[in-house]
Amino acid sequence: MNIGQKVFRYHSVTSTNEVLKELAAEGFEPGTVVIGAIQTKGRGRMERTWVSPEGGLWLSVLLDASPEFRENKFGIIPLMTGCAVANAVSAAAGLAARVKWPNDVLINGKKVCGILGEIIDVEGKHLAVVGIGINVNNPVHEGYEFSPISTSIAEELGKEVNLEELERVLLAELDCRNNLLNEEKFDDILGEWRSISDTLGKKVRITTQTGDIEGLAKDIDENGSLMLERGGQVEIVLAGDCSHLE
Ligand code: BTN
Repeated sequence: MNIGQKVFRYHSVTSTNEVLKELAAEGFEPGTVVIGAIQTKGRGRMERTWVSPEGGLWLSVLLDASPEFRENKFGIIPLMTGCAVANAVSAAAGLAARVKWPNDVLINGKKVCGILGEIIDVEGKHLAVVGIGINVNNPVHEGYEFSPISTSIAEELGKEVNLEELERVLLAELDCRNNLLNEEKFDDILGEWRSISDTLGKKVRITTQTGDIEGLAKDIDENGSLMLERGGQVEIVLAGDCSHLE
């Protein structure tokens, strides 16, 4: 099924990721999308709250994710999602957006979108729920506890943008990259990510579960992991929160 062929739209939901997990348990197929105008329990990475008032684009997409794919390539999902968001923002708002490893999209160096990928298994089906939160016309400074350097599309553009148009373009952008994923054209996705990366070539701090590490972001490898140069050695970082230090 194409992404967006089946869209469930709600005014208010707890979290689109949670609603989509329930729909997956009921048997809805990969490609199914849940959109909420408001989330009352929006979740970010590392169990953080994702403040989700009206005016933003809060949605989740169900994808196939076989055990073999999860083993090595799961890290490519947030990268391909980030590329889809960056392209949609450029097409719908005319703004240049860039990607930050592993899960964010930036405009003018400020976070406009976060991505939360989760793995689920439903009756022998191996799936992924990919949550996308884009600050569009919603306020981002008041009560926004997640990131001190956040922005919205409207703030960068100086006027509100058409939410439906952004949503339509985003689903199309996701669909074409998901086809690349299904065809195992990983290099196409990784190449696109590199070309719009704001992280590569910068000094970064990665916060992992075992502590912070700092180094130069040299590249991403074939699985989407970060290749971090520290003290003349290159370390492969699978996951973590990344801060740009310059
Ligand atoms: C992050 O940067 O921490 C990830 C934020 C992900 C937010 C989106 S909004 C839609 C979906 N539903 C959620 O509860 N979270 C994701």
